Order: sequence, then structure tokens, then C-alpha cells
Amino acid sequence: MTATKNNAPLKVGVVGLGWAGQQHLAAFTALDGVEVVALAGMEADVLAKLADSFAVPHAFASWEEMLGLDGLDAVSIAVPTFLHTPIAIAALERGLHVLSEKPIARDGDDAQLMVDAARRAGRVLDVAFNHRRRGDIQALKAIIDDGGLGRPYYAKASWLRRTGIPRLGSWFTNKDMAGGGPMVDIGVHVIDYALHLLGEPKVLSVSAASYAELGPRGRGGSPWDPPATTDFDFEVEDFASAFIRLEGGATLIVEAGWASYRDPADVMDFTVYGTEGGAELRVAGASETPVGKLRVFTEKDGKNADYSPAVVPGGAHHAVIEDFVAAVRGGEDVWPLHDGSLALGRARIIDACYRSAAEHREVEL
Ligand SMILES: NC(=O)c1ccc[n+]([C@@H]2O[C@H](COP(=O)([O-])OP(=O)(O)OC[C@H]3O[C@@H](n4cnc5c(N)ncnc54)[C@H](O)[C@@H]3O)[C@@H](O)[C@H]2O)c1
Repeated sequence: MTATKNNAPLKVGVVGLGWAGQQHLAAFTALDGVEVVALAGMEADVLAKLADSFAVPHAFASWEEMLGLDGLDAVSIAVPTFLHTPIAIAALERGLHVLSEKPIARDGDDAQLMVDAARRAGRVLDVAFNHRRRGDIQALKAIIDDGGLGRPYYAKASWLRRTGIPRLGSWFTNKDMAGGGPMVDIGVHVIDYALHLLGEPKVLSVSAASYAELGPRGRGGSPWDPPATTDFDFEVEDFASAFIRLEGGATLIVEAGWASYRDPADVMDFTVYGTEGGAELRVAGASETPVGKLRVFTEKDGKNADYSPAVVPGGAHHAVIEDFVAAVRGGEDVWPLHDGSLALGRARIIDACYRSAAEHREVEL
């Protein structure tokens, strides 16, 4: 682990060549003192092209081969969700630091195994929550943390698409591979940024519902991500909502939808009401729009004093990866603070949502 104790470059391997893996690759290679020395993925043409354009010296068809490479310090995992757990555990057991894509795992039990492995190994396990690093969310967080809204007592957060089922018939719509549908895929971002904005209140209970009305009929597939096959079982939900009770009395409503008959814009949003003010953030085009529309509603001398704060774009994946590299470089005192437990908490909330939806009742955490 010399690269984490001196100024030698940090040697990273990235596994996964899809949208997420390419974000990791671009972000790591943009950093000084970091070398992406290995890349793994099953699309031979994409693998060769990316290895060439990012000057990555070692390319592998599988993650197992990549982990056999000597000299790695860290691994970045951007593969189908069911593989996060075995890859992370194998890498941690080899003494490597791990950055995993969200969700940390298919469910809380798999996530717990990863966190246990990180603690045993004494290595970093970070999870990519890139949306909380948006500039609009950070601007709103600063307002809330400054007391600009008083005590938040109600919030609603959603990510909703009209036709946004990622690749019908692929791993995304297979329960065992993905862990679930939009609640675990994009709802995890929504739950993460909502709780982050609200100051990480403890979640007491959830009451959730889930639906699969369009996906099983082959409707709602994303136009930019065509079906993997025409003959498939759709095993997950295509829309879910949850009513979440928080310690201190506040409540949060979460909606996560891949597909429903609604405005065609792919919208991520957050509404919060506090004792001294409220705010609304609306981002149309969640992953592509660097800055959403943020409005703050408050009052001064008994009159409305509403405003739209200036917002700059945030760092998204680049910020996540800078944090990960800083944590690894931070050394043994810092590593235990990055053991994946926040992401494990998100996974437990989502487990409770699915249990609540299946059992038609409120579930306590
Ligand atoms: N943070 C975000 O905003 C964000 C966005 C999209 C996806 N993701 C997450 O990233 C992960 C990947 O999503 P994606 O959309 O890029 O998926 P994808 O299906 O487009 O790509 C998956 C990649 O994993 C590779 N892979 C699969 N099995 C492998 C193996 N055994 N060895 C080596 N490589 C293997 C595939 O070859 C492919 O390159 C998922 O967990 C997803 O939830 C996060």
C-alpha cells in the first residue's frame, strides 16, 4: 500500500464500461497523482477503444482477471448491482480500497457483508452518491444548514420519468441482478440527497407502495437505451412511492419512477417546508442538466421575500472521485470513516420500502 503512504501515483482499476464506468474513468484520469492502470469489461470493442483513448495499459474481460494484477491500490466498481458485493469483498480482502457505484448492493444484507469486509480489511469503501454533489443541492443545503428555512418539517423528493426504464430485459429489470426497480436504482439517489439536505435525521419507519404496470407490457422503455431482448420477464417495479417518518417529527415523501403517463421530462426534484421558509428545486433532465431551478420562499417583516439563489454546477462524479482519492490519501486515521455505512443505511431504508410494499403495512427500522 505504498502509494497511499508516499507521493507515488495511486494505481486504480476500473471495472465496468457503461455510462457509470466511463464517468469513473474520465474522473480518475483527470486527477493528478492517479493512474488508471487497468480496465475491465465484457464489450471487447468498447474495452479496446477506452483503453486506447485513456492510455490504460491493462485491459481485462473480467473483474477476476483484473484483481489478479499486481500493484493496484484501489478499484472502482461500475458493473451490474449484483456484482458489487463479490467484487468489493474480493478487492478489500486483497487490501485494495473500493469505490462502488450506487446502490451499494442489491439489499442491506449484501451491503452489510461489504461494510464488514471494509472494516476487517481497514480499507476505504465509498459509494458514488453523485447527485448530492450537485451545485443546486449544495446551495440549498447551505441555506438549510444556515437556518434559512427554520426547522424543516415536511419534504417531498422525486425522480420521475415518462419512458425511462433502462434497457428492458437486461439486468436492470431482473430482480436478482438489480435488487429492484426504480426505488433501488434512482430512488436511492433521491433518498440520499433528501436525507443529506435534511441533516441526516434518523429514519423511523416507512410506508411504501410499488407498481409494475407498464414494464411488464413492454412499455416505458428508455428510447436512448433500447431493449436488451424482445422476450423478457419484467421482475421489478416501474414506479414506487414511500412515506417516511423521521426522528423529530418531520416526514419525507419519496417517489421513484422509471415509467408512468406524465410529462415527458425526466425530472428530479425536492420540496421542503420549514418553520421559517420553504424551497423548491426542480431539475429537468436529471443527469444532463448541471443546474436546476431553485426557489426559496420566506418572509421579511410580514411580507413574502422569495428569491432564486445563484447556483453553480457541482462536481458530480468528479467530486465523488476526488473525495475517494482524498480519503485513500488521508491514511489509516481517515479510512475507518469511509466504511460504506452511510450507503448501508440507505440500503436498509430501501429494504424496508420493499417490505412495506409487499406486506401493505408500515415498517419500522
Ligand atoms: N451514479 C449514477 O448516477 C449511476 C448512473 C448509471 C448507473 N449507475 C450504476 O452503475 C452500475 C453500472 O451501471 P451501467 O448503467 O453503467 O451498466 P451497464 O450495463 O451499461 O454496464 C455494465 C458494465 O459492467 C460490465 N460487466 C458485467 N459483468 C462483468 C464482469 N463479470 N467482469 C467485468 N465487467 C463486467 C459490462 O461488460 C459493462 O461494461 C450500476 O450499479 C448502476 O446502478 C450509477
